[in-house]
Amino acid sequence: MNIMFENKTVVITGACGGLGSAMAKRFAADGARVAVCDLRGTDAIVDAITAEGYAARGFEFDITDRDAVRTAMAEIAEIYGGIDVLVNNAGINVDSEGRKHVDDFSDKWWDLILKVDLDGTYNCTKLAIPYMHDGASIVNISSIVGMVPLRNQCAFTAAKAAVINFTKAIAMELAPRGIRANVICPGTIGIAITNQLWKDDGAMTGLLSHIPMGRQGNPNEIANATAFLASDAASYITGAVLPVDGGWTCGGYARNF
Ligand SMILES: NC(=O)c1ccc[n+]([C@@H]2O[C@H](COP(=O)([O-])OP(=O)(O)OC[C@H]3O[C@@H](n4cnc5c(N)ncnc54)[C@H](O)[C@@H]3O)[C@@H](O)[C@H]2O)c1
Repeated sequence: MNIMFENKTVVITGACGGLGSAMAKRFAADGARVAVCDLRGTDAIVDAITAEGYAARGFEFDITDRDAVRTAMAEIAEIYGGIDVLVNNAGINVDSEGRKHVDDFSDKWWDLILKVDLDGTYNCTKLAIPYMHDGASIVNISSIVGMVPLRNQCAFTAAKAAVINFTKAIAMELAPRGIRANVICPGTIGIAITNQLWKDDGAMTGLLSHIPMGRQGNPNEIANATAFLASDAASYITGAVLPVDGGWTCGGYARNF
């Protein structure tokens, strides 16, 4: 399969993170002009992409700040003449100390996670749509916990489940304009944060026992799936939920009994 984004403008939020930076590099290498969006520190990713001879530019704003999102989307559209792909990838979760049952869960974490993971996705989508060309594509990054809840992460679970249904709703609304909207649900992907969470051997062995493929994913595997759903190769796919999880959500037992 040859996926090309030549002359396409691709907006990626959270593009300095583990998955977002892999996506930014992947889309750029496929010919896109990438708007590298994050809270701060976009220079390193932009420099890495442009050093390879590809096109990228940094935009620093908070996706929870509607005025800032409105300004950024207008600026991106002005510079590039519209938007072809929006990847709502920015997201947060509780750290390991914050993982608690609902009765003990921090209200501060609840408010923040819903604000970033759900409201942020809504803000960027709503405020990018006026600039999206007919036939454009939106890919929202949820999580397998949006499909199959995990204990001690009620806010992340709720926000990511909401992202799935939000995406299905907008897929129906935007279909008449030929704009597709799909969701990717990553399983556990080996980046600095997840490696820290599962750092001891016992925890990692326990984690891997749930994954039929017996390993974590890597960021490029999420970038590949994102590029596929964003591309014309997925031209009849909208409102779809694609787990990229090594089989975690198959629903059977990964171990032999
Ligand atoms: N890594 C995994 O195993 C995994 C699993 C399931 C889902 N996900 C999802 O994938 C996406 C990317 O995660 P990641 O693993 O790369 O995490 P990450 O922490 O490496 O990257 C997230 C990025 O989002 C940015 N961000 C956070 N809040 C923001 C805000 N208010 N405005 C703008 N940018 C903001 C951060 O600065 C960071 O660069 C997230 O939505 C996450 O929930 C990741």
